[in-house]
Order: sequence, then C-alpha cells, then structure tokens
Amino acid sequence: MKNDVLGVKEIHENLHKKYKDYPIEVYKVLDSTNVELKRRAVNGAVHGLTILSEEQTAGKGRMGRDFYSPNGTGIYMSIMIKPEMIGEDVVLITTAASVAVCRALEKSLGMSARIKWVNDIYLNERKICGILTEAITDTGKGRIESVILGIGINYRTENFPQEIRGIAGSLLPDCAVPRNLVVGAILNEFWEIYEKLAEREFMKEYRKRSNVIGKEVRFLVDGEWETANALDVDDDGGLIVEVFKEDGMKQKQVLRTGEITLRITE
Ligand code: BTN
Repeated sequence: MKNDVLGVKEIHENLHKKYKDYPIEVYKVLDSTNVELKRRAVNGAVHGLTILSEEQTAGKGRMGRDFYSPNGTGIYMSIMIKPEMIGEDVVLITTAASVAVCRALEKSLGMSARIKWVNDIYLNERKICGILTEAITDTGKGRIESVILGIGINYRTENFPQEIRGIAGSLLPDCAVPRNLVVGAILNEFWEIYEKLAEREFMKEYRKRSNVIGKEVRFLVDGEWETANALDVDDDGGLIVEVFKEDGMKQKQVLRTGEITLRITE
C-alpha cells in the first residue's frame, strides 16, 4: 500500500470522542519512542501523551534486546501513563496492552492474534508485536511516577535480521488498511481497559487468547532452564506453572517477572 503515512490528524479521526484530548505526536525518525518519552517525562509530559515514529534507530526490546524498526513498515508507539493508584501494577498495564492490541487487530483487520506470556503477540506462530513497559520511580515519594508503555508491531515489515528470522513475522505484507486506523483502534481499546484496570475484567480475555496455558513450557531463570506445565494466568498476570523436579515430583510456582525467557515445548 502506497502513501500509508502516520499522521496526528488521521489518528485523531479514529479515536473515540472521550480520548481525543490525549496529545499525539508523530516523528519521521527517533532513536526510540520509549527513550523519547523518558526524556519528555523530565519536562513534565502529560498523562496520555502518545509518541509515534516512522522509524527507530535504536528501538528497544525486553531484556536489553533491540527491536527491529525500519522506516514506514511498522507501528512504533509509546504512551505516557501517570498511574493514579499508588503502586499501580506495571505488569497489569502490560497485560492490558496485550489484550488491547489483540482486540484492535480483531476489529480493524479481522485477525485473531494470540498472546505468549507475558506480552508477545503472535499470529500464525510468528511474533508480530512486542511490548516494553518501563516505570519511572519518584525516589522521593517511593512510588511509580510514570509508566511508559511501548508497543512495536511488524505491520508490513520484511527482511528481518537473521537472528529473528525464525521467530518474527509481519501482520500482512500487503495490508491495505492504513496504520493510522489500527493505531486509533489500539488507543481506543487500551484506554477502555485502562479505565477499569483494577477490576481485571480483561484478564478473562487474556487467558482465552493465551497460547501458553495448557502447554508444556521451558523457562530460563537465573541461568537455569526448568521444564513445567503452564496451568493458568492469575489475576495479577503471573503465570502459574507446575515445575517438574529432578526427583520426579512436581511443584507449583508462579512466574512473575518479565525477565523470564519462556519457550513452548509442545
Ligand atoms: C520486545 O518484544 O522485546 C518488546 C519490543 C517493544 C518495541 C517497542 S517499539 C515502540 C517502543 N519503543 C522502543 O524502543 N521499544 C518499544
């Protein structure tokens, strides 16, 4: 699709009335939309500020990885969230964002995506979206002051670097739907969930869309691989697993941190 350019006006046109006041900025190139929002946080960026870039020269993934962000083919966006509740759970925001992206893809493109715990989104066994949530803590007050929610979607991305070629996929290389429409849909769905985040109603859909629950998984924690059955996801976004111990016993455990590498083995 030609002329699929990100634009503030076009995104706003796709937003529900009640979310139209949140400021949106679109850039041609940034190092990283998350990093830009962090810089802006210092200067008092407001709740809801959303930054998008056509290209990222230093796109960031989880666990210090890069996020491949070539020009004009993806959606690279970050949202500034000023949590109202003290100690509002960052994991819950990430979990909510995964559900919001899936709902948006369903509504705007008719695609049924699945979530790999914690927050990778898969379509046809390929990762098409990653989410990186970063918290800024007010050390004086000892609480989270802002949360930066970064969402990266391989929309029409091709020619992935060798190291991710076996995992990464693109939404639709020849998708005729403008990215502005999908961005608007993601924002609508996210804010809708965020308004009632504490009620955790969206967790039901998270579980339904999970491609991990009921599977055998391997996870890496503190440099050690463990094998387990993934049983469920609790209301705080923790993955409840039954770990196979060396003595043949099984032990229930809840995986909480986003710093865990998880592989589905069956
Ligand atoms: C992951 O899969 O490891 C998370 C990837 C998150 C990528 C997005 S793109 C927009 C925002 N800016 C970044 O630098 N990273 C996030």
